[in-house]
Amino acid sequence: MIPESFIQELLARVDIVDVIERYVPLKKGGANYQACCPFHSEKTPSFTVSPSKQFYHCFGCGAHGSALGFLMQYSGLGFIEAVEDLAHSVGMQVPKVSERMQSDRAKKAPLTELMLRAARFYKEQLKASPKAIDYLKGRGLTGEIAARFGLGYAPDDWQGLQQIFPDYNDPALVECGLVIVNDQGRRYDRFRDRVMLPILDPRGNVIGFGGRVLGAGEPKYLNSPETPLFEKGRELYGLVQARQAIRDEDTVIVVEGYLDVVALAQHDIGNAVATLGTATTPNHVHKLLRQASKIVFCFDGDSAGRKAAWRALEASLDQLSDDKAVGFLFLPSEHDPDSFVRTEGAEAYRALVRHPTTLTEFLLRELKTSVDLSTAEGRARLVHEAKPHLLKLSAPILRVQLTKAVAEAAALTQGEVEAQCGIKPPAKGYGSRPAPPPRRRSIEISLAKTLLEAVLRRPGRAARLPLDLVGGDRQDEMALHAIANAIDHGELPAGNLGLLIEHFRGTAFETTLAEAAGRIAAEDIDEGEEDAVFQDAVERLRAAALKADIEELTAKRTLTAEQQVELARLLTAKARNDARPKN
Ligand code: UTP
Ligand code: MN
Repeated sequence: MIPESFIQELLARVDIVDVIERYVPLKKGGANYQACCPFHSEKTPSFTVSPSKQFYHCFGCGAHGSALGFLMQYSGLGFIEAVEDLAHSVGMQVPKVSERMQSDRAKKAPLTELMLRAARFYKEQLKASPKAIDYLKGRGLTGEIAARFGLGYAPDDWQGLQQIFPDYNDPALVECGLVIVNDQGRRYDRFRDRVMLPILDPRGNVIGFGGRVLGAGEPKYLNSPETPLFEKGRELYGLVQARQAIRDEDTVIVVEGYLDVVALAQHDIGNAVATLGTATTPNHVHKLLRQASKIVFCFDGDSAGRKAAWRALEASLDQLSDDKAVGFLFLPSEHDPDSFVRTEGAEAYRALVRHPTTLTEFLLRELKTSVDLSTAEGRARLVHEAKPHLLKLSAPILRVQLTKAVAEAAALTQGEVEAQCGIKPPAKGYGSRPAPPPRRRSIEISLAKTLLEAVLRRPGRAARLPLDLVGGDRQDEMALHAIANAIDHGELPAGNLGLLIEHFRGTAFETTLAEAAGRIAAEDIDEGEEDAVFQDAVERLRAAALKADIEELTAKRTLTAEQQVELARLLTAKARNDARPKN
């Protein structure tokens, strides 16, 4: 874990405008900056960046967050990678954990450099190899697409790489998988006489290669081994090239083969990526769902394809939320996406992608094939088989739906299935923080909204909130307490919105805060006027509490002596309050 204090220091050091400007040209307009949103396609700018709030927000698609959030969303980096990247850009060192990472980075850099040089060499060699060019042309690929994917050719030569690596004995060449040493100690190129497909990490570094034989031959594909740069279960082929299309479509297609990705791109279907000859992992799903709200797994129609799809389903269950979806597309058994799009055309393929088999349908269909639903035993078995999947599914509403569907198929009630599977009805989630004790009464929604927005504009205001008057257990009310608590306990500096949002990342308040932040992110209002809004809201809060207290007492038939004294005190306070000039 990276200590939160470091994240806070980091965010205090960077300026979100600088960070975003590296990727998106920004135009100043009032207190904020504007641009066309990089997360969806648009003609007029609805993306704004606020330097005072250190926050970005798009009115068009709702994308928003801090400088860190931007890096994650834009580059598909993980949280730690994004922190690393950002720290690096301002010359800060990520503490502890990263000592290892730092040395990792230092170790990797020379290997990355070798891989890049090799990729350039293979690319050059392709230009000089008519038979490799013919092979690619024969597969319907143009030079433009070959360039986009950096395709190359490894010459038919045992030590072709010697041309660019005079020190062919450099152990780093072996370490990054380009050169093999045999038992006699002889060194030779791993890839010979193959079409080369470079595999990139999200930053665009070449971390591995796939090499395909021209025509028939075994093995059909030769891949880089796992190296310090390349971990197969984490990487996806084509992700860097697909990024923009994934954003535009808000969908990512996952296919099995390298050349499926390339062929789809050739037909203008740019949002496809491939797993690298391994099963889909939860890590893959996690990465992809961060960049799109829908994944369509497109596997071959044969039994291997079904198996791969099932593994993808299992990898997805605990990564899902109710605003995300995964679907499955099974092509006719004679096809893979490459052959399908070439014979049937892009439109036919797009139509299939629009209507994939849903996760629920696929799950039920597969479970049903192994049981006999006409018997009580078979129906019991269905529930038994469904149980681990139901429990694993992390989208609460979808889980209810799936439970219902299983119940229906098993001729049971939803409650019976829930009881048998030990599924508890969805509880109110408070995230990692303990729920605040229930307070006396809820405050008006519009008032809570105003207060929350004012606190997000300047988190230091939380200290001036009369929290004892904010009751109820709505998310907005609890969020106000959580912010004040965090500031009181020194967990959160009274800084800007970006910092606050990062502090609550991954907690139950994440959504509520993001929504409120979205409402205020792009505003351009006068500080003094705005402080008056906060003061006024606090006054309204006091007045409402007073009024409610008075009503509560006057509603009683009889009052104790203390209650009478209390009522008198409240009425005096109210009279004083009412007499005060209002702004
Ligand atoms: P396929 O055998 O389905 O090949 O392998 P393909 O993608 O249709 O290839 P083409 O169209 O004949 O060129 C799917 C994926 O499995 C991995 C590769 O990642 C390949 O893209 N694979 C396959 C290997 O790693 N090695 C192999 O020998 C075969
Ligand atoms: Mn194929």
